[in-house]
Amino acid sequence: MSGPNSDYDPVEVTPLHADEVEAMRDAALAALAAADSLEALKQARIDHTGDRSPLALANREIGALPPQARKDAGMRVGQARKAVAAALAERQGVLEAEAEARMLVDEAVDVTLPTDRTPRGARHPITTVQEKVADIFVGMGWEVAEGPEVEAEWLNFDALNLGPDHPARTMQDTFWVSPASAARVLRTHTSPVQARTMLTRTPPIYVIAPGRVFRTDEMDATHSPVFHQVEGLAIDEGLSMAHLKGTLDHFAQAIYGEGMTTRFRPSYFPFTEPSAEMDLLCYVCHNEPGAVAQCRTCRGEGWVEWGGCGVVNPRVLIANGVDPQRYSGFAFGIGLDRTITGRYDIADLRDLFDGDIRFTEPFGVEI
Ligand code: DAH
Repeated sequence: MSGPNSDYDPVEVTPLHADEVEAMRDAALAALAAADSLEALKQARIDHTGDRSPLALANREIGALPPQARKDAGMRVGQARKAVAAALAERQGVLEAEAEARMLVDEAVDVTLPTDRTPRGARHPITTVQEKVADIFVGMGWEVAEGPEVEAEWLNFDALNLGPDHPARTMQDTFWVSPASAARVLRTHTSPVQARTMLTRTPPIYVIAPGRVFRTDEMDATHSPVFHQVEGLAIDEGLSMAHLKGTLDHFAQAIYGEGMTTRFRPSYFPFTEPSAEMDLLCYVCHNEPGAVAQCRTCRGEGWVEWGGCGVVNPRVLIANGVDPQRYSGFAFGIGLDRTITGRYDIADLRDLFDGDIRFTEPFGVEI
């Protein structure tokens, strides 16, 4: 720093010359204008307005001047610094606005884009119903049993008292698996799971067996060569038709709600004696006098077919190693597919099997 001058001689304090100050100011303005980012602007600010910037250093020289020169130089430097400060503020504003605008573009969210880039599938209603049924029975202490879809002829028929001459054993109903000598079929019902269970466990037995079954039916709106059943089997001491009725009525209520019930109609199955067809109270009209006549679901019947059932034939117990003197039991088998088409008003059974997700989607992921 120069010492105090006794004469007004600005020439001796070079940084305070008007053209020097102007040059410093212009250099500062040029640097600020050239800063193309907030980062660059920060550097320009330090360089041109910081403590060690030329204008700051020049400012410090002012005090050494004689009064008049100090006043002139003070004004010059002051104006230059003011101009630089104003330019800095302006440039700062411009760059901040630019940064914000860029951020708005970079981080913009296109609200018209699809929101779900991995669309969730839906559960097939057959799966859902099978699990619901299993839940209801597990809640009563039953177990879920399984069997293979390719089944031994003996288990599918003989073990269930379906002798070699029974019509269900003819080629018409059954898919036989080649070679014939293997004596295997695609199971025509879930009842062989009964035989498998009795052969591998000791009573008391309480099992439910949902699954896929196969028959040589042509596919049309009401038939399919593949469909679904749920089998139930209870073997214990002292079981009767009354226990069967109570179980099915509870099942009907658990799945369709309060007030639901079943009715039996006499029938014949080789594996049960006595046997019954069971109907479910129509879940739409509830067989109510004012509604039943117009009901499309039960066609005015008040009841819809649900399946077959009965007291397990002692011949079946013997064939599967259960002592009929000590034990008795009941069994039932219900078709699931028609239950679903009826429940959801699905006109064509084929919709259940097409595998088109537009069909399953409305059912969602109900568990
Ligand atoms: N298996 C029979 C069918 O497919 C249904 C059936 C009827 C199962 C009576 C049973 C039963 O367990 O007791 O048509």
